[in-house]
Amino acid sequence: MNAQLDWISRPAGPLRGELRVPGDKSISHRALMLAALAEGRSRIEGFLEGEDTRATAAALQQLGVRISAPADGVRVVDGVGLHGLRAAERPLDCGNAGTGMRLLAGLLAGQRFDSTLIGDASLSRRPMRRVIEPLSAMGARIDSRDGLPPLLIHGGRSLRGVTIDTPVASAQVKSALLLAGLYAAGTTEVREPQPTRDYTERMLAAFGWPIAFGPGWARLQGGQRLHATDVCVPGDFSSAAFFIVAACVTPGSDLVLREVGLNPRRIGLLEVLRAMGADIRVDSSREQGGEPVGDLHVRHAPLRGIEIPVAHVADMIDECPILLVAAAAAEGRTALRGALELRVKESDRIAVMAAGLQRLGSAVEELPDGAVIEGGTLCGGEVDSSGDHRCAMSFAVAGLVAATPVRIRDCANVATSFPGFLDVAHAAGMRVTAAPGSNEAAA
Ligand code: S3P
Repeated sequence: MNAQLDWISRPAGPLRGELRVPGDKSISHRALMLAALAEGRSRIEGFLEGEDTRATAAALQQLGVRISAPADGVRVVDGVGLHGLRAAERPLDCGNAGTGMRLLAGLLAGQRFDSTLIGDASLSRRPMRRVIEPLSAMGARIDSRDGLPPLLIHGGRSLRGVTIDTPVASAQVKSALLLAGLYAAGTTEVREPQPTRDYTERMLAAFGWPIAFGPGWARLQGGQRLHATDVCVPGDFSSAAFFIVAACVTPGSDLVLREVGLNPRRIGLLEVLRAMGADIRVDSSREQGGEPVGDLHVRHAPLRGIEIPVAHVADMIDECPILLVAAAAAEGRTALRGALELRVKESDRIAVMAAGLQRLGSAVEELPDGAVIEGGTLCGGEVDSSGDHRCAMSFAVAGLVAATPVRIRDCANVATSFPGFLDVAHAAGMRVTAAPGSNEAAA
């Protein structure tokens, strides 16, 4: 077995110049799935070459979809139509990707054949009842290991449209139900406790499927068709977030991030950082393929702690780890509450970030649904990302402003969402490298 990949992040900066981050993960997954079910050929540009999205592409190929990669960041998908998938010979491996598994569960619930979805150790611990129960209410039959993967999805079921109030605000759950709804008789309506990212809704419309939706709800009818279309994937705001915070907290920084997706349900972090005193400007905002996109211009500014409005949490759920780093570097106290979902992400992100920041000398009090941090200076030391890509990159930013180097354990999973992070970080002025003796080949 390979040695684990650790990183060392050293004090550095300022961050200057211009950079681009890889394509949006959520949009890349959905583009593959809808293109696969469409009639005709779709071309996806700006596709995220990450392990998560590649796992989804491989799963669709196992289901009989031809997908080619004529260039880096490009996929050409020959759609097989709504009823053109065929049974896979082996289990479909979603790797580390909750989005891949939950959306595929919805998509596969309406097929004529059985499918099995498996994942890595982290995904195998993530809750699946949130999709199994509402899909079962539509007539699906899904076996699991007590609510955990693997999922055996029985085919040949007749699905019926239902109206569902989801108990958790989750775009993955909503999307799974909408994808099953494509195969259901009648109307499927999903209502959420808080609005979540609406990529599935926007993209279904772009592929020609009639759908009505607004913040916190979506409704469609089964039995229509998807028509192939080209998709241009914007930069992933969640990947940009590490550099946004890095530039905010490092004196002298002046950084531009080009062509970042700015869907209103993703950019809660911008509001929160601005309320903390950040200097972030959005330039040349425009619409690209039905999604708002813009350039972000970030300059260093002193941050002060705030009470984070709970209403922003769903719009920044993936940015909470890096926000905690910003809070640790800010002056005064920051409180994050209402973020219980962080405990069931790729890791328990509240526990992992609190433990890591405490190791770096930060005064962090862990709450059941968040954390309270007293900002101040950080010292160096060793922290464990627990194999969570977003925690690893967040700690890399902490190392930028720590007094001495920070060693970050278990960073290989950064490749799930941000392959090439070390190169982009280097170009921006950060000093993060693979630790000598660790598995540098995975860097
Ligand atoms: C995602 C939804 C969110 C997010 C994840 C991607 C999506 O998960 O955390 O990274 O693409 O729909 P939940 O639906 O579990 O909140």
